[in-house]
Amino acid sequence: MYLQHRNRILRRSQPIRDLVAETTLSSNDFILPIFITEGKNVVEEIPSMPNYFRRSLDETVKEVKELWSVGIKALNTYVKISNHLKDNTGKEAWNPNGLMQQAIKAIKDAVPEMLIMTDVALDPFSKYGHDGIVDEKTGYILNDETVNALTLMSLSHAEAGADFVAPSDMMDGRIGAIRKAFEENNFSNVGIMTYGAKYASCFYGPFRDALDSAPGFGDKKTYQMNFANRREAINEVMKDVEEGADIVMIKPAMAYLDIIREVKNVVTVPVSAYQVSGEYAMIKAAAHNGWIDENKAIIESLTAIKRAGADLILTYFAKPAAKLLAE
Ligand code: PBG
Repeated sequence: MYLQHRNRILRRSQPIRDLVAETTLSSNDFILPIFITEGKNVVEEIPSMPNYFRRSLDETVKEVKELWSVGIKALNTYVKISNHLKDNTGKEAWNPNGLMQQAIKAIKDAVPEMLIMTDVALDPFSKYGHDGIVDEKTGYILNDETVNALTLMSLSHAEAGADFVAPSDMMDGRIGAIRKAFEENNFSNVGIMTYGAKYASCFYGPFRDALDSAPGFGDKKTYQMNFANRREAINEVMKDVEEGADIVMIKPAMAYLDIIREVKNVVTVPVSAYQVSGEYAMIKAAAHNGWIDENKAIIESLTAIKRAGADLILTYFAKPAAKLLAE
């Protein structure tokens, strides 16, 4: 045979493959979601997320120091609180001495440079497990009342020392309202990473176990997006950018790589993607059964998410991935 081009030339050896690699992964790309719970000396494994833990504040601080030492520089924080603190308004979310506010301060005291992004949504504080305030007559999630609550919540996170807030609720207009509140209250340096296109997904199941935050009735389809839609994601993300979002997120990641790419093609702000709890659980379960190689699945999935267009990735694998990349 006489061939003008032999494409396999660029794949012949590891050095040439490395030279022409189009995507590289680094621990600088990762944000680690962490679950914080009440009490002391608590380290609880989440049954549907093997080898992933909820920790009390004292244990969280120890873990955060270790995370920093392996190159994890950004966290997304979630809290699990007792049921007696939950109601329909979610007001525990902006208690200045609440668990989230204490956690932000404790982490900043222990590792001042660690970047803290806080989850902003009412579900861990709602007696109904919904991301917003429920109209008790109709079951509908009230948009504008919820935006007001999310603004109070964001201000209290900023007051405690958060670097970014990350609204995961999908209400309309919350990014603009939070940006305005930050400007008016001397928090002009606090950023917003919006969950811009967040789909109503079954892949959040293990997370809801972790925070005991599954919806008490119905589902989240009146606020989270229909997974059949692509154009709508662009619309959602563009609105959030106009309202002042600094970083836009797509969630989940692995089944939504097309959305990550579409968004990447139209925005100039950084794009993040969330490899969610169900994605973690699937890889863990298959690896546990000996059906796939866990370490290879971690690196391949994260590289694919980055190749699709994510500049940064929220992943429960951040710690093992950082270790693997350092080897
Ligand atoms: C809730 C929230 C969810 C996740 C992050 N924030 C769950 C939901 O929307 O029901 C999911 C994260 C994951 O599955 O890893 N505001």
